[in-house]
Amino acid sequence: MVSYIIRKISNSVTLLRLNDTDVKYFEANWHIPEGITYNAYVVKGKEGAVLIDLWKQKYSGLFLEALKQVIDPAEIRYVVVNHAEPDHTGALEAFSEINPNAVVVGFPIAEGLLRAKYSFKNQFKPLKNDEVLSLPDITLKFIYTPWVHWPETMMTYYEQEGILFTCDAFGSYSIPDGIDDEVANKEYEHYSEKYLATVIGSYRDNLLKNIEKLKQEGIKPAIIAPSHGLIWSKNPEKIIQLYTRWARGESDEKKVVIVYASMYGSVEDVIKKIKEGLPDADFKTFAFTDDRRDDIEDALTEANSAKAIIIASPTYEVGPHISIAQVIDVFSMKMKGLNKPAILLTSYGWSSTADKRNLKAMQDAGFKVVDQATFKEKIPDSDLKRIINSISAVLRS
Ligand code: FEO
Repeated sequence: MVSYIIRKISNSVTLLRLNDTDVKYFEANWHIPEGITYNAYVVKGKEGAVLIDLWKQKYSGLFLEALKQVIDPAEIRYVVVNHAEPDHTGALEAFSEINPNAVVVGFPIAEGLLRAKYSFKNQFKPLKNDEVLSLPDITLKFIYTPWVHWPETMMTYYEQEGILFTCDAFGSYSIPDGIDDEVANKEYEHYSEKYLATVIGSYRDNLLKNIEKLKQEGIKPAIIAPSHGLIWSKNPEKIIQLYTRWARGESDEKKVVIVYASMYGSVEDVIKKIKEGLPDADFKTFAFTDDRRDDIEDALTEANSAKAIIIASPTYEVGPHISIAQVIDVFSMKMKGLNKPAILLTSYGWSSTADKRNLKAMQDAGFKVVDQATFKEKIPDSDLKRIINSISAVLRS
C-alpha cells in the first residue's frame, strides 16, 4: 500500500517521502517490483520556506496532506524544480491552487515544459548557472547539471547545512526500510545501479562530467539528498564513488553476462557447454524460452559491470529472435560507448541474417565483438572450443 514518511534530516530540512508500491513499470519501461520513492524537501527559514521537488501527480492529495503537517503551504516562498520530469513535478498544479504566490525557480527551458504540462499561475524565475538565492538564513546555490537526466536538470546546494539536493543523480529504486545510508546494503546498491543503468545509462558521460564539475566548484556535500531512495548523510562520498564506478561501467573481474533465447533447445545446449567449459567464471544468465522470460532491466544492470557479454540468438524469420533484438536495442541505447567485450552466437535451421544484423547493431553501439559463431542446429566442437578460449582470454585481460 502506498504510504509516506515525514522526517527531519537536519535543523531546517524536512523530508517528505512517498513510498510508491503501486508502480509496476517505471517510465512505463522498467519492471520494478521493488517499488520506488519520490523525495521532496522543505527548507524552513526564519523568513519563509523553500520547497525542493515534489511528487508524482497521482499523489497530489497525499503530497498536500504531508506538506501541511510540516508547514503552512502559504509560507513557501519558492519552489525549486531541479528536474521537470513528472515524477518530481506532478503535484505542482495542486500546490499552485493553494499557493499561487510562491515563485517557481528552475533551469530556463524548464518553464515551457511545465506550462505545457500543468496549469499554474505562479511566476517562474529562470536561473543562471551558479545563481544564488538568499533568504536571510537560507542560501541556495543552483548548479546546472544538464542531461542528468533531462536537458533542464540542475542541483541545489544548501550552503548553511552542506546539503546537495541532486534529484535523479545518486538516486535508486526500492523502498528502503529507513531514510538514510545507515541502511544501505548490497541489495540497495544493486537497485541503485539498476536505476543508473536504466534511467541515466544513456547519459553516463554527462553524469561523469557533472560529478567532476561539482568537484571543480569545490562542493563537498555533508549530505546528498536525492529525490529517489536513501539520503546519504553518513558517507556521502560512497555514493559518489559508486555512481562514478557504475557510470564508467567498471567490470567485476569474473562476471560474464549471458543473454540468450532458445526456441527448441539448440542455443540452450551451447550455453550449457560454455558454462561447463569455464567453471571459474561468474555467470549471470538471462533467458527467453518457452517457459522462462527474465527481466531485461536485470540483464542490463548485470551487464553494466560485466567483463564480457554473450548474446545468443536463434534465427527467427531469417533475423534475430524478437526478444534478443529488443535486448540488443536496449543495451545499445543504455551502454553505448562502454566498449565492453561481447561474443555473439547464432543458430539457424535454413538460413540466417541474424548474425550480421546483431554484429552491426553491437558494433554501432561501441561493443567490442571479440568472437562470434553461427551454426546450423549444433555448434561444431572446434567453434565451441574457440568461443570458450575467447571468453577465457577476455577474463584474463
Ligand atoms: Fe526521477 Fe528523471 O526523473
